[in-house]
Amino acid sequence: MLLKGKTAVITGAGAAQGIGRATAHLFAEHGAEVALVDYDKAALFDAGKTFMLPHRVYDCDVSNRTQARATIDRIAEDFGKIDILINNAGVVSPSLIDEIDEAEFDHIIDTNIKGNFMIAQAVVPHLRKQGGGAIVCISSIAGQLGGGVFGRSHYATSKAGILGMAKAFARELAPEDIRVNAIAPGTLDNDFTKGRMTAEIKAKIAANVPMGRLGTPQELANACLFLASDMSSYITGATLDVNGGLFIH
Ligand SMILES: NC(=O)c1ccc[n+]([C@@H]2O[C@H](COP(=O)([O-])OP(=O)(O)OC[C@H]3O[C@@H](n4cnc5c(N)ncnc54)[C@H](O)[C@@H]3O)[C@@H](O)[C@H]2O)c1
Repeated sequence: MLLKGKTAVITGAGAAQGIGRATAHLFAEHGAEVALVDYDKAALFDAGKTFMLPHRVYDCDVSNRTQARATIDRIAEDFGKIDILINNAGVVSPSLIDEIDEAEFDHIIDTNIKGNFMIAQAVVPHLRKQGGGAIVCISSIAGQLGGGVFGRSHYATSKAGILGMAKAFARELAPEDIRVNAIAPGTLDNDFTKGRMTAEIKAKIAANVPMGRLGTPQELANACLFLASDMSSYITGATLDVNGGLFIH
């Protein structure tokens, strides 16, 4: 029970095979009260049906500042406090440089950077009220290697931006006992690419991973639990690589 008495907000927690849903389950198993945030109403509805432990769901587009603020304040009101944020909502695209129009660029950046920034900005005052807390930002190996697995330049830009943002938050908020860390997952065996990655492509990627396989949402949830709990009480500004050895630096 590493999170007994804690309240955790998890964005992008709707998708059935996603990191966010797996993390919400694990946190609830560890005694946390969890708020699942997503803009996919059907996925949230499904999460509500299958989630047996206490939780609440919130329909919110994280890239919309008004919605982000209102949702976080509502969560704080409903639960009485916020201790943990898992900034996980994200979108990806394999478009090449000549194919990326302004709308697609904005969609990736608005979700992955602006959305993560604004949710964190809205959560910080609530963490302060608690005298501290933990934020975990989900980046990607694409931000470290320059994409190349599935996400391309706009995605890599956004995920590298998240690494810088998490470090800057960590530096600024450390004196207030708010720890901020990032996780850089390698490729997972889930539906992040919405069916665009075939079994053959997955096998090819796995063959390049030193551990010889893709990761699982559960393994990412485990990393989130470590960084959100007191098990990592002296760690802030770090990037945790969860990639089976694909990027060792
Ligand atoms: N799956 C992978 O291979 C992989 C690898 C590296 C990094 N990541 C990162 O992990 C995070 C989670 O990915 P996943 O694999 O669970 O993907 P997923 O597609 O299963 O889950 C992402 C969730 O975010 C939600 N979302 C997207 N835009 C949103 C918005 N504007 N507002 C609210 N919710 C929104 C989606 O509805 C979905 O439920 C992402 O940030 C992704 O970039 C994933």
